[in-house]
Amino acid sequence: MPISDTILVTGGAGFIGSNFVLAWVETVGTPVVNLDALTYAGNPASLDCLSSDGRQLLVQGDICNAELVGSLLREHRPRAIVHFAAESHVDRSIVAPDAFIRTNVQGTFTLLEQAKSYWSGLSEADRWAFRFLHVSTDEVYGSLGAADPAFCETTPYAPNSPYAASKAASDHLVRAYYHTFGLPVLTTNCSNNYGPFQFPEKLIPLMILNALEGKPLPVYGDGANVRDWLYVRDHCSAIHAVLARGRIGETYNVGGNSERMNLDVVTAICDLLDEMSPDPRLGSRRKLVTFVKDRPGHDRRYAIDASKIARELGWTPAEQFESGLRRTVRWYLDHLDWVENVRTGAYLRWIEQNYKERLAT
Ligand code: NAD
Ligand code: TYD
Repeated sequence: MPISDTILVTGGAGFIGSNFVLAWVETVGTPVVNLDALTYAGNPASLDCLSSDGRQLLVQGDICNAELVGSLLREHRPRAIVHFAAESHVDRSIVAPDAFIRTNVQGTFTLLEQAKSYWSGLSEADRWAFRFLHVSTDEVYGSLGAADPAFCETTPYAPNSPYAASKAASDHLVRAYYHTFGLPVLTTNCSNNYGPFQFPEKLIPLMILNALEGKPLPVYGDGANVRDWLYVRDHCSAIHAVLARGRIGETYNVGGNSERMNLDVVTAICDLLDEMSPDPRLGSRRKLVTFVKDRPGHDRRYAIDASKIARELGWTPAEQFESGLRRTVRWYLDHLDWVENVRTGAYLRWIEQNYKERLAT
């Protein structure tokens, strides 16, 4: 049986995955099978606008379940797998790394094994057409000094957190399945994303919601750590470009040309909220900034050299950081119902666990 025009997305109820599925249905329009375990980070409400759209099928299930993955491949015969599913929060990987090894390493391995078995049974033409796209992170490259050149695709791997180490392991497995078995893989290593539907444990949505509510803004260490920020829809368009035109076996770094210090990001959020949702009782929200105990092993700086994807595939980010941040603040202000939906008991327990002691010292 030939492949179909369906794609299998993993982790498509998470932050980037849901943005990708929405963009895919809007712009490409072919069917998506969305395999997601719906962990604390997975939220079907992010895909509510597709609930009566037959083009997205959400399957609640685990990428470590080989039987389930194999049967989805045999049933839907996708032309590509786009693999987002992961445990993704560095702080959680410090407190409880087990789930990171299970999903990010074992889960990616299971997907690769099932993909190889499905792909080997395809016709030659379909084997040429099939793609396995692995979505990874710039954190696999470790930490940069202030004057170091940005990460490029040949920068040696030097992961520093359990999260980064588990993603690095998955990247190596993906590479090995190309070199050893010829599985047509592609890998993207992207910088920090921000935008709609991001779970509010990550820096930008956490700060937006705390600042809105007049709560302390917990900045780790001296606040001078630097991240490169990419608007999530730009990441989605980069993945589209790599899927359509990337050279198999290659990796592509994806970034926003927007290096910012954490403290500058947080004060920018304060100023936007003072303008868009002024609260006379709070005055300037900048005074909510609270320096707290640093993250152990906190990487100082990430920066991405995205010249390969620009040169080979013609992709560059469309959004500037300042306009993207404004859109993001607006989105959270307009979607407080979505926020309430994700602030479950598990979320509140995490906030208590991560910040209670930090804010007390
Ligand atoms: P997220 O934590 O918001 O979402 C992860 C999704 O994966 C959730 O829907 C969750 O339910 C699902 N999931 C977790 N374990 C699963 C399992 N065992 N089986 C099936 N589904 C499972 O993550 P995100 O921020 O959307 O990141 C998506 C991918 O992009 C990850 O692979 C991450 O490493 C990578 N990435 C993220 C960023 C970023 O800034 N967020 C940057 C670069 C790369
Ligand atoms: P995060 O969003 O967790 O992404 P990552 O660690 O993968 O880069 O954090 C972004 C930066 O913000 C990172 O340097 C840690 C810092 N940070 C804080 O200062 N306070 C916080 O409460 C959080 C969640 C992050």
